[in-house]
Amino acid sequence: MLEARSLNRAFGSLVVTKDVSFALDKGERRVVLGPNGAGKTTLFNILAGELKPSSGAVLMGGRDITALAVAARARLGLARSYQKNNLFGELTVRENLALAVATARGAAGWIMRDTLSDAGIAEDVRDAALAVGLTEMLDVPVDAVSYGVRRQLEVGIALSTRPSVLLMDEPTSGVGPGMIQAFHQLMHTLPRELTVLIIEHDMDLAFDVADRITVLNYGEVVFEGTPDETRGSPMVREIYLGEWDAHA
Ligand SMILES: Nc1ncnc2c1ncn2[C@@H]1O[C@H](COP(=O)(O)OP(=O)(O)OP(=O)(O)O)[C@@H](O)[C@H]1O
Ligand SMILES: [Mg+2]
Repeated sequence: MLEARSLNRAFGSLVVTKDVSFALDKGERRVVLGPNGAGKTTLFNILAGELKPSSGAVLMGGRDITALAVAARARLGLARSYQKNNLFGELTVRENLALAVATARGAAGWIMRDTLSDAGIAEDVRDAALAVGLTEMLDVPVDAVSYGVRRQLEVGIALSTRPSVLLMDEPTSGVGPGMIQAFHQLMHTLPRELTVLIIEHDMDLAFDVADRITVLNYGEVVFEGTPDETRGSPMVREIYLGEWDAHA
């Protein structure tokens, strides 16, 4: 469903993506692990089309999408949520979701009144809010909600376009234990046919949701396997030394 083929990328002399290849089956849940600076976000930027690889290819449903821009990939069903918040603070949760849906449909986002009263958009907004547990918060301005709720909204925005492939960059970074628990549940309620690639630092969550795990280190795939194989890998253990024993 989503494939990376020998992706390479450098910033100046710093190689951040080195011959990265992997393939996700339809409906697969894949977790990307790796230390800070391993190149995880850079890889997502390449997959989503925000960054061009210097060589290699990205395929979706067998089609080479390497040359396509972010919007074109989004129209094919590729959505992402960001590691850093990317929201309109003065707008409500509902307005943020509606804008995302309208933009994905190619509608002019600035016609707010029309956007909010469009029945099709309203339905997508309701479904996305329900999926991430934000139904009660729809009319609250984003500036007034907690950091954790913003992270949930980020995922809701990605889901609101009804993608077939969802990329999530550390959806639980900086949120409390209660919110991490909510994400466990969220992950299990996502449509089973949705293909998910998620960068996640929380080991319990990673092992809980992953069908397979890919480990990046210095821009390279150094390991790929099931959660059990990952747990048992001395090399992965070494990369995560310290962090590991507390969680595994
Ligand atoms: N636009 C850029 N220009 C120059 N260097 C960059 C740029 N973006 C990222 N880098 C560098 O590339 C490396 C990989 O960064 P990246 O953000 O992909 O790592 P990451 O695995 O997502 O890390 P984290 O766990 O901290 O989010 C880092 O050394 C980073 O400083
Ligand atoms: Mg990152």
